[in-house]
Amino acid sequence: MGIRVGLIVVLLSSLLIQSASSQGSINVAWTPLNETSTTSYRNLINRFTTARNYGSEGYIAAQNYIRDWYTELNMTVVSQEFDTFNDNVTGVNLIGILHGKKQTQNFFLVGAHYDTMKDNPGVTDNGSGMSAVLEIARILNVMFTYNCTIDYSVIFVGFDMSKPEPDYGDDPPCPLSAGIGPCGVFNFIDWLEKYLTEQDNAQLLGTFIIDSILNYNTSINSQIISEDARVLLPDYFYNVSSGGYKGNYIAGVVRAADVTLAQTFRDSWVTMPLNELYQFQQVDLVGDATPNPNVHIQLPTFFQSEHMQLWAENHIAMLITDTLKQRGYQQTCFDKSCDNLQFITETNYEFGYQTVRAIADSIFKLGSGNCNTTIPPSSGSSLLPSLITFISVHFVAFILFVL
Ligand SMILES: *[C@@H]1O[C@H](CO)[C@@H](O)[C@H](O)[C@H]1NC(C)=O
Ligand SMILES: *[C@@H]1O[C@H](CO)[C@@H](O)[C@H](O)[C@H]1NC(C)=O
Ligand SMILES: *[C@@H]1O[C@H](CO)[C@@H](O)[C@H](O)[C@H]1NC(C)=O
Ligand SMILES: *[C@@H]1O[C@H](CO)[C@@H](O)[C@H](O)[C@H]1NC(C)=O
Ligand SMILES: *[C@@H]1O[C@H](CO)[C@@H](O)[C@H](O)[C@H]1NC(C)=O
Ligand SMILES: *[C@@H]1O[C@H](CO)[C@@H](O)[C@H](O)[C@H]1NC(C)=O
Ligand SMILES: *[C@@H]1O[C@H](CO)[C@@H](O)[C@H](O)[C@H]1NC(C)=O
Repeated sequence: MGIRVGLIVVLLSSLLIQSASSQGSINVAWTPLNETSTTSYRNLINRFTTARNYGSEGYIAAQNYIRDWYTELNMTVVSQEFDTFNDNVTGVNLIGILHGKKQTQNFFLVGAHYDTMKDNPGVTDNGSGMSAVLEIARILNVMFTYNCTIDYSVIFVGFDMSKPEPDYGDDPPCPLSAGIGPCGVFNFIDWLEKYLTEQDNAQLLGTFIIDSILNYNTSINSQIISEDARVLLPDYFYNVSSGGYKGNYIAGVVRAADVTLAQTFRDSWVTMPLNELYQFQQVDLVGDATPNPNVHIQLPTFFQSEHMQLWAENHIAMLITDTLKQRGYQQTCFDKSCDNLQFITETNYEFGYQTVRAIADSIFKLGSGNCNTTIPPSSGSSLLPSLITFISVHFVAFILFVL
């Protein structure tokens, strides 16, 4: 395992060295992103506003929408069904593979969970993350359409079974007691290992896990940060406390092994700000290579998402989050019916979209992105065909429903 990590680090650094030499073409690639419109991302978020607990209407609709989106972008689509601890419940991870234009055997991964608790619209958690995954796929597809290349293919995934399903009482599909964390990612890793082996022993070079990215709050004391962080995350604690505990940043959580991802993300973040006030805080874990959530119980929002299992399997990964229930309205609305659109202003869309842009740009840089053509600024336009597809696919269902 140690050798594998070493190999990944070496591969990643060699990619970075190459990417430094193609800096010139990167700016050209990002011409469409000069457009600061959040329209496409906003429309996506507005598709994820009803509860997506197992078997619900919103859950099925979200699955169909994600699959249609992948299909529209000419991605390879895999619906990975997996058994849960409840015989009556089958989870579904939605995987889309966007093949790089260059011959390559390696992969990058971007993922977010799409399920929610019952009666929880889950706009911020985690509709904002799933929408980001889809929007990043769209941006990269536009770039490939314009003959831009990156050195790897990108796997996108919507994870199921991230949330516990309390309705199942004594027989939950993914009990905490199983000790495997969210069941979706646990099963996804099985699929991934097999897939990489089949692709000529390809490598996974890195992963961005996105979990709730819309919540931005500039009020003093809008950010909760536990005293544990003073010791465990001293730089982060210092920055947030000296800033007056404002929830005005996106956090990137990394171990020493993942630091390249955070640095690349930071570089992208600061060079394409939609608003100079939006901050990035790197959360560097010190000491414990793979943190034990039982020890770091006071820092739950950094240690419960899908990156934990990727770390456990020695994959390079970074969690990108607005800190979920430790900020502003999510202190009361997390997993509840008020995680809906009422709090979402143009600023929130823009703050979330800044993360979308920075991740897409990071993927491009890490993959030695190259573009020879100029892309006209029209980032929202290719959404329309997708929406038309969505509407036509659902039209029959809609008519039946109305009747
Ligand atoms: C986009 O940004 C780049 C770099 O800032 C600039 O050179 C270019 O002129 C901009 N393009 C448009 C269409 O605004
Ligand atoms: C998907 O592939 C088809 C056939 O090659 C092409 O016409 C279409 O433009 C592609 N769509 C996207 C969004 O890349
Ligand atoms: C599965 O569903 C059946 C039929 O509704 C029910 O009788 C059974 O108790 C359920 N099993 C579990 C494990 O929930
Ligand atoms: C992309 O490359 C193809 C084949 O070389 C060429 O026909 C097409 O015009 C290029 N597209 C753009 C937008 O440059
Ligand atoms: C803390 O803030 C300073 C100044 O904005 C910044 O340079 C530094 O990177 C921040 N530290 C972290 C851990 O984000
Ligand atoms: C910001 O956080 C404060 C404190 O949690 C909360 O009362 C307020 O509603 C939040 N504002 C926004 C715009 O979310
Ligand atoms: C871009 O241009 C360079 C030099 O002209 C060429 O070697 C390379 O193949 C081109 N890349 C693409 C994607 O067309």
